[in-house]
Amino acid sequence: MKTLQVALAERSYPIHIGASLLDRGELILPHLATPRVAMVSNETVAPLYLERLAAPLVAAGVAIERIILPDGERFKDWQTLNSIHDALLATSCERATTLIALGGGVVGDLAGFAAATYQRGMPFIQVPTTLLAQVDSSVGGKTGINHPRGKNMVGAFWQPRAVVIDTATLETLPRRELAAGLAEVIKTALIRDQPLFEWLEANIDRLLAREPDALAYAVERCCRNKAEVVAADEREEDREGGRALLNLGHSFGHAIETGLGYGVWLHGEAVAAGTAIATELSHRLGWLAEADAERVRRLIARAGLPVSGPRLGAERYLELMRHDKKVAAGRLRLILLTGLGRAVMTAGVAEADIAAAINDCCERDD
Ligand code: NAD
Ligand code: GLY
Repeated sequence: MKTLQVALAERSYPIHIGASLLDRGELILPHLATPRVAMVSNETVAPLYLERLAAPLVAAGVAIERIILPDGERFKDWQTLNSIHDALLATSCERATTLIALGGGVVGDLAGFAAATYQRGMPFIQVPTTLLAQVDSSVGGKTGINHPRGKNMVGAFWQPRAVVIDTATLETLPRRELAAGLAEVIKTALIRDQPLFEWLEANIDRLLAREPDALAYAVERCCRNKAEVVAADEREEDREGGRALLNLGHSFGHAIETGLGYGVWLHGEAVAAGTAIATELSHRLGWLAEADAERVRRLIARAGLPVSGPRLGAERYLELMRHDKKVAAGRLRLILLTGLGRAVMTAGVAEADIAAAINDCCERDD
């Protein structure tokens, strides 16, 4: 097992990474303020893993409420959030009860937001079971739900007390979901870790084959990067980029998810296509060499991910992107690449250039 630390003063917490950590109650027990837990999962993950996670806690005398959500991005909404609050109230959970989120990014974001808002905030622990959640969403404290007009538009920063990553849970993940997680791994490499990018070029097939060493390396490397970024700019306030750089490809990606309807494309697939568009735009502006842009596209494609977006029309993309959380003083701010492993946030790109990059990428066949 490896343990990393997210350094946020009194809100610091460990990230434990290893195989079969679901059985290690001692990683969770020290973080419980009272011997009571509300475990939030979904109808797919709960039958696979909930009782294994619960067993050592029950053996230690912890009482567990089980809250099982429907599965899918389309359920990341007010109604499902409300159902968590209902269940917490129905079982008289208290402010000091600990909520444990067991599942992918949808469960983590929803349950985290429920924890942030129930009785003005209860402690929570992330136990992520998708590659995407293990490399990205479980770390950093962004929680929330979608609005019909915009992805992740309602939420809160609420840091977990611990993140427990059992990499063996990836064995049951559908292949399409594994690939979706790789989009965030590629993103992490592109914004700040060129050696990781080169490692991915050499090892992407091992990741797709779920070789445990390769998966553990990618998870640890991404968590290390994310922990550093979050520790430096927890609330995305750095005007030079900081945490916002983690949103490479996301302005376009969120437009795809909202434009098509939540769940039609997976989040990771939309991020992959968005990263391809951001790459094209970076090249168009003369910031990224054609050879490097080609390397990005090739890696995304080798991961089994799309390098072009759906044909919503550039005007529709731009309309959806005007709701992006990085819009400031009415100006769209984008994350673009200045090299492999180097990214910047910029507000100065003309809409005509953005539209041209969208049109170019969305006309190309995958
Ligand atoms: P997801 O949570 O929908 O999980 C994908 C699918 O895999 C689901 O059907 C789920 O039930 C299933 N699943 C989960 N673990 C499994 C396992 N071990 N075995 C078999 N099936 C399993 O999707 P995701 O890709 O994990 O997360 C996407 C969400 O994360 C999006 O809503 C996105 O906005 C959010 N996100 C949040 C952050 C953040 O910082 N908070 C960062 C990135 C993404
Ligand atoms: N996934 C973006 C962030 O955590 O900031």
